[in-house]
Amino acid sequence: MARKKIGIDALRRKKERGEKITMLTAYDFPSAQLLDELEIDTILVGDSLGNVVLGYKDTVPVTMDEMIHHTKAVRRGVETAMLIGDMPFGSFQLGPETAIANGVRFMKEAGADAVKLEGGGPMIEIVDRLTKAGVPVVGHLGLTPQTAGMLGGYRVQGETADKAKILLDDALALQQAGAFMLVLECVPEVVATKVTQALAIPTIGIGAGPGCDGQVLVFHDLLGIRSGFTPKFVKKYAQLETIMREAIAAYRDEVKSGAFPAAEHCFPMASKELDKLY
Ligand code: KIV
Repeated sequence: MARKKIGIDALRRKKERGEKITMLTAYDFPSAQLLDELEIDTILVGDSLGNVVLGYKDTVPVTMDEMIHHTKAVRRGVETAMLIGDMPFGSFQLGPETAIANGVRFMKEAGADAVKLEGGGPMIEIVDRLTKAGVPVVGHLGLTPQTAGMLGGYRVQGETADKAKILLDDALALQQAGAFMLVLECVPEVVATKVTQALAIPTIGIGAGPGCDGQVLVFHDLLGIRSGFTPKFVKKYAQLETIMREAIAAYRDEVKSGAFPAAEHCFPMASKELDKLY
């Protein structure tokens, strides 16, 4: 039986039933196909694209055109999951008109079902305008990597009572402004649980503990595609880098030694044609 496309209502019902929501990032067609086939509920084309795929040192340089290019590729691989495009730095902070224009681009050009954007405070007005314009929005509070410099770096947010209260107020305001889901990144478990209980919309945690309505990880982190710094909240479910290294080194060595390509990788020519050629 064909699976039904995941929409906003389905996510809300999952929260109401206490059924956890799965989210993963994807940046290309084959990984999107895999996630969709494996029934991941929501696929985020995160601006983590900048770090994990494009080789930038952070997410700040990522452009709308880059996000659209990758979201289009992911769209081609997704049938059932909800597809969310991440609004890159500079695509929504300039004001509601720019934000709406870019939100509409995500939906019309790239086929995204919704967008995500970082921040509370002044961003709440932007979320309000986007949702009123018909662009479904996922909020993102706690550690917001686009403005990590202003938050004292990549560190846990909402650790004091005052900061936790601001986070809760922002979460409620984002819900009020029409956000249909909220990502909570790097906040103490107890704060994320409180926010989750206070909201009717689902929360998706990353470094925010099991009290959230769902979880998200970056595709390359989950699969261990590259070693290097691994945040505490990442669980590597595989060590693909080791497998990839071994495969690439074996290929290199076999090309050098002449062991690849072998007979089974070559195309024969009929002997009568060969005779003619000679
Ligand atoms: O850009 C991204 O991948 C994200 C997730 C980690 C939530 O924002």
